[in-house]
Amino acid sequence: MNWTPPFIWLLCLSVCECWRVTRSLPALHGQVESPNFPQPYQASLSQQWDISVPEGYQVQLSFTHLDIEPSANCYYDSLTVLYNQKVLGKFCGQENSADGHHPGNQPLLSPSNSLTLVFQTDDMNPEQHQHLGFSIHYQAKDIDECSALDTKDGPVCSQLCHNTLGSYICLCHHGYELRPDQRTCVLSCGGGIFNEPEGTLSSPGYPAPSPHGLACQYVISLELGFIVTLNFTDSFHIESIDTQNGPSCLYHWLQMSIPEKEPQKLCGGQSPGLVPINSNTVQLDYHTDWDGLSQGWSLHYTTQRVQCASPMSVTNGRVTPNFSQYFYRDYIQVRCDDGYKLMMDGKEIKSYASMCQNNGQWHLSLPECHIIDCGEPEPLLNGQITPLSGSQNQYKSSIQYQCNTPFYSLLGESTRRYTCAKDRMWRDDLGISVFPSCIPVCGKPTVSISGIRRIMGGDRAPANSIPWQVMLNVEGGRGGAMVIGDRWIMTAAHNLVKEGKPAEKDKVRVFVGDVDAVKLSKSPHLGVASLHTHPEYNNQNFANYNHDIALIKLQQPVTFHAAIMPLCLPPEDAVYTSHQTGIVSGFGIKEDDMIANELRYIRLPVVDQNICETSINEAKKERQKENIPFLTDNMFCVGVPEGGKDSCQGDSGGAYALKNARDGSFWAAGIFSWGVGCGMRGRYGVYTRVAKYIDWINKTMEENK
Ligand SMILES: *[C@@H]1O[C@H](CO)[C@@H](O)[C@H](O)[C@H]1NC(C)=O
Ligand SMILES: *[C@@H]1O[C@H](CO)[C@@H](O)[C@H](O)[C@H]1NC(C)=O
Ligand SMILES: *[C@@H]1O[C@H](CO)[C@@H](O)[C@H](O)[C@H]1NC(C)=O
Repeated sequence: MNWTPPFIWLLCLSVCECWRVTRSLPALHGQVESPNFPQPYQASLSQQWDISVPEGYQVQLSFTHLDIEPSANCYYDSLTVLYNQKVLGKFCGQENSADGHHPGNQPLLSPSNSLTLVFQTDDMNPEQHQHLGFSIHYQAKDIDECSALDTKDGPVCSQLCHNTLGSYICLCHHGYELRPDQRTCVLSCGGGIFNEPEGTLSSPGYPAPSPHGLACQYVISLELGFIVTLNFTDSFHIESIDTQNGPSCLYHWLQMSIPEKEPQKLCGGQSPGLVPINSNTVQLDYHTDWDGLSQGWSLHYTTQRVQCASPMSVTNGRVTPNFSQYFYRDYIQVRCDDGYKLMMDGKEIKSYASMCQNNGQWHLSLPECHIIDCGEPEPLLNGQITPLSGSQNQYKSSIQYQCNTPFYSLLGESTRRYTCAKDRMWRDDLGISVFPSCIPVCGKPTVSISGIRRIMGGDRAPANSIPWQVMLNVEGGRGGAMVIGDRWIMTAAHNLVKEGKPAEKDKVRVFVGDVDAVKLSKSPHLGVASLHTHPEYNNQNFANYNHDIALIKLQQPVTFHAAIMPLCLPPEDAVYTSHQTGIVSGFGIKEDDMIANELRYIRLPVVDQNICETSINEAKKERQKENIPFLTDNMFCVGVPEGGKDSCQGDSGGAYALKNARDGSFWAAGIFSWGVGCGMRGRYGVYTRVAKYIDWINKTMEENK
């Protein structure tokens, strides 16, 4: 029997309608009748019908009527059914007739899809009775190929047979597959591609011995970044042949192919056990020929992520996480210890992370941790920075800020230590990163005069004992003033306003730093930036010395030293206690009626304000013709009641300095303003009460920074 692939037949069925039109496909049924039927047939007939139905079918004949002259062996008239020239039946007679050979009610089947009918009659008709002939219906009948007898090679299908219209297909039990002959089944290889992370593979039929003629392929293939490990079970047996060169996998083998490596054949009775593949893919080819015996094999495979080398340690840094091994997709970070920064390729980086790649390499090489530095600390004006420890301003180096004592001090402290912190800032012990500045020390001369003379009267001022002393030269006239800041000089307003007109600042010369007036006047004077007389000072007729105060701003800040130091401004709680003694100083104090060329000083007490007022009033009465100025609360008197040649001779605009009992510093209590009858009994020097002007002084300085 010819086997027709079922799909071709299905195709035929679907286009049958067209094919029938062209008559190239046999009909599925039909009718064959004797000539003239249902009229009696004639003598001497010989007619043949070739009936065919589509392949895969049998022809089934159903005799709807048969009436042919009966004779022994249907000798005279007959209908013969032939298949392949073989007679399937020869019919004559009538139903129920004693003679002849009637097919009865049973249909007649041809072995295949064709039949030949031959109707023959003789030339004599011995009877009067006339016979009608026959009428046959034929139809295609599906062949049950499956129940056909075994072929010479064995059963039609070696395992399961499924009959279909016009054909059949062979099927295999689970675990078997149809071989190319489409008839026999072999144990399935169970091969193919394995891409699960783990799995089990075994030879077909395992643990039964392997079938012959196998060519099974198994491919384990995972994504890059994974490696495969095979673990063969102990029961491993593949036929090996002993040759001169030892056992050889000649006829049966399991071949392992790993990319870029020589394939390797396994056989014998010894399990390879654990076989690391070191690749993400491996192909296994199991081969048996038609002879020999292999008991088979089984293996479990697992996959591992590709391993990256453990990172080295980073000096002064930490690699996290700390695993004993690192695999594909693991990533590490590196953090530097406090005080260190991440560096890669000579550049600082903010953060570092590196991943183990699928090729087993880290995607970045390790960074380095370099010590940080805080940079040069800000220089300190009028002070020094001393390194204490460490070098190159590196992390944890410490430095000391120190002002040039005794002329400058750090606010409240003598030194301040700064350490380079992990945020690269210099920070002091409290964590403050603001650098201090050196503020001038005021009112503390390096040479003390307080102990020199206890009695009243003038004397030469030793060098550096009154370092705030200023010699003023305004448009040729000499006056006094005092240093109160590195840019500020304070004096009396009347020194800077002559006849109601303010002096030009270019004509104001400021000399400081010596007790010798001649030397001083030859020394370079300090440049004046601006003049600030008190806005309410208005002394048209030399009769109103109210608000007799002025400030001179210098162009450059003065650097203080023993010979030049500022006088303090009045403390907030300044009091002018009567009889308290202060120091008046100046180049104008006369000695034996000679203008001194050296700085002199006198210790004089503060006078009770009532006594002072009385003294002024008396003077007014005595000298009515003169325009005696009046006393205000912004003034106070200094001097002794008995008078004395030295009592009022300080340079106009110079300082009256009182000592602060709390810290021993001198402060600017007064500015010598005016007086009546110098050195006379009961007459005093009148001074501007500086404490009244704190706010103005402060404001002026603030506004003219
Ligand atoms: C290999 O398989 C055996 C069992 O067949 C098992 O005992 C052994 O632990 C496996 N080895 C590995 C490394 O998985
Ligand atoms: C990492 O872990 C191992 C043991 O697990 C330990 O010996 C080692 O000191 C650790 N390294 C770091 C840097 O913590
Ligand atoms: C000047 O004013 C500032 C702020 O207004 C203040 O901190 C400072 O103490 C004042 N100085 C004096 C001498 O009053």
